[in-house]
Amino acid sequence: MSSPSSYVVSTVRSALPILEEVTYLNTGTVGIMAEPVLAAHVAAVTQYERGGHAAEGAARQGYERARATVARLIGAQPDEIALTRNATDGVALIAASLPLGPDDPVLTTDQEHPAVLLPWALAQRRGRGRLAFFPVSPDPEETLSRFLQALRPATKLVVVSHVSCETGARLPVEAICACCRERGILTLIDCAQSVGQFPVDVQRIGSDFATGNGHKWLCGPKGTGFLYVRRDRLDLVEPPLIGEGAASPPFDRRFLGEEPASAPWSFVASARRFEYGTRNFHDYVALSAAVEYLDALGWEAIERHMAAMSGIFKEALAAEPGVTLYSPRPWEDSSGLVTFGVEGWTGEELSRRLWEDYRIIQRRVQVPDAVRVSCAYFTGPEDLDRLLAALRALRR
Ligand SMILES: Cc1ncc(COP(=O)(O)O)c(C=O)c1O
Repeated sequence: MSSPSSYVVSTVRSALPILEEVTYLNTGTVGIMAEPVLAAHVAAVTQYERGGHAAEGAARQGYERARATVARLIGAQPDEIALTRNATDGVALIAASLPLGPDDPVLTTDQEHPAVLLPWALAQRRGRGRLAFFPVSPDPEETLSRFLQALRPATKLVVVSHVSCETGARLPVEAICACCRERGILTLIDCAQSVGQFPVDVQRIGSDFATGNGHKWLCGPKGTGFLYVRRDRLDLVEPPLIGEGAASPPFDRRFLGEEPASAPWSFVASARRFEYGTRNFHDYVALSAAVEYLDALGWEAIERHMAAMSGIFKEALAAEPGVTLYSPRPWEDSSGLVTFGVEGWTGEELSRRLWEDYRIIQRRVQVPDAVRVSCAYFTGPEDLDRLLAALRALRR
């Protein structure tokens, strides 16, 4: 099979040495870092850890550059970006910050990751919001109609994934946000599975908040993420925690005096209000390096490659006896995540055997009970051949 992309897939694969040992089909959980990005990462860690405070200026500069890089990537302003540890952080911060009453409905879907469910379950336990659900369909029109049926005049917030981590279905987030805007309902979009796969522009999506990470499709450092807070929504979110860096004016013992509680400080007037204290500034240097690496390959080429590869995977899996494909077919309604089940196998058992017997990294999903593979910018036809060979051998 020839490569459907306009960069040379064998060249990008040679920058990912793990591919010589395993079939890597799980970028949807964590990505693998290309060697040039890893070199930048190691250099940044070395500089900061060796230099300590002497290197902090450079580390902080790298950190701010990452903020600007993320902002550019998703069409936001740097002041609208809080750098976090992961996508979950962003959801948890909004769940802990928004002033909601115990009966205020928070509408979400039946395919959300625990990253969405747990922070809102905790918020509900603490008397802030009440979760309600609508089911995702492979057809975005149907998803929109189910969403509209579930929407209530009292709904205060809609929180949905841009791409379902279960089936890879793309949700009609622009239409959902437009409906919410008309009704004065806030929106939080979980972009953990979309950023790095296809263009994500928060202005076009029209959400109030969005969250994502650097360690999946951007193939950046583990433990990096972001929370987007639309500038005019900042005053709605009062962080649950504060520390030096998040308060304005900056900390000064004389100013805070004997009574810090009554001193006239407030949260800084940007999304930086969620960040405080000493942080892993150096990790974010590699987040910029990861985005720049993909910039250089070309985002259109990356998307074209993932669309083509996931299409080839879907076609081949759907044609395989005993295999059921659960992901939508059209690229516009789907993503590089391809979910399928095999007759007679639970997702858990199939996932375990694919890894243990065939060194194929993928993930089990629960809705439906199936296995999910990720077609990334480096996925090649050889990965599909190995997957099909393993499935055939397991079915025998
Ligand atoms: C849709 C979705 N949201 C959130 C997460 C959690 O991401 P993180 O580990 O960055 O918190 C995942 C991870 O698989 C996901 O698929």
